[in-house]
Amino acid sequence: MLDAISKSFFHTLAGSASLKRFASSYGMRRNGGFARRFIAGETLEEAIAACQAIQARGLFLTLDLLGESVTSLNEAAAVSRTYVGMLERVTASGIERNISLKLTQLGLALDRASTVDNLRRILEAALPGGFFVRIDMENSPFIDDTLEVFETLWRAGFHNVGVVLQSALHRSEADLKRVNALGARVRLVKGAYKEPRAVAFQSKHEVDEAFVRLMKTLLSEGTYPAIATHDPKMIAATKAFAAERGVAKNAYEFQMLYGVRRDLQSALAGEGYGMRIYVPFGTEWFPYFMRRLGERPANVGFIVKGILSDRGAS
Ligand code: FDA
Repeated sequence: MLDAISKSFFHTLAGSASLKRFASSYGMRRNGGFARRFIAGETLEEAIAACQAIQARGLFLTLDLLGESVTSLNEAAAVSRTYVGMLERVTASGIERNISLKLTQLGLALDRASTVDNLRRILEAALPGGFFVRIDMENSPFIDDTLEVFETLWRAGFHNVGVVLQSALHRSEADLKRVNALGARVRLVKGAYKEPRAVAFQSKHEVDEAFVRLMKTLLSEGTYPAIATHDPKMIAATKAFAAERGVAKNAYEFQMLYGVRRDLQSALAGEGYGMRIYVPFGTEWFPYFMRRLGERPANVGFIVKGILSDRGAS
């Protein structure tokens, strides 16, 4: 219940233009910007440096250019060209070739066919260099279209792409069967969005139970599953089920967000599990940042401290 209230509160704040302006002027300052804990930088150079540090800790990565809900098809096409340019620069830097993106960045809220074209352009550029492309999952009104776009390109022969399913949603069990039948890769998450009762579980307990159920199906029937959570209980359940069923440590991986539970990230990698870090960067960091606060309101204290010390310094 509290989880739903906190998500809803931060969802409302995320729509505030004045809060966005305030956050934008302080959040990513080079010295002590409070959003830097969760955002790897505003430029690709900064993000690549963060990725190099992550690799030096023995972790894998996926790089995400922040942005969602573009308002014109020209903008969506421009984002897809930016992604293609980014692939070249990632290749030149020598970091791991793995990216995540959101389809509303590529025009999903405007036109599905154009979104397919935009994603195809990225996948074509990604294929020769051996990139893997993960399509993040957004809020429930976009799920049908996201899966349709994904399947269209999967059936066209692009198998360097995977999706995300959210345990909070009632539909995810059926969606998992559909994606497993293709043999495609799934990242399992709890779900970051405020969703109505009609489509989603509202209590943490129910979301967690669904996560464990989906995790078991994924480890039994899926293709190189990604278990994306910071929750020690979900991680323990995954390790126990994998050990019981003889699923090798290299047949699946854990994933966590940049800046969250670094201790646990290193501990899991030290135990020999694959551990991938989701590394977001770019100037459009505000909605992503607000979702992180909604997941753990205790982070607000940390941010207020950052703002006060930042103001004191200037
Ligand atoms: P839960 O929220 O129950 O938290 C468990 C514990 O983890 C907390 O008690 C705390 O210790 C720690 N924790 C969690 N969040 C924290 C935070 N922000 N700051 C500090 N500590 C925190 N969602 C989505 O809808 N679509 C997507 O495509 C993705 N993609 C994605 C990729 C990756 C790699 C990850 C790890 C997560 C996502 N998510 C996502 C987000 C996901 O749905 C979910 O909102 C967060 O992972 C938080 O849920 P947990 O499983 O960590 O559990």
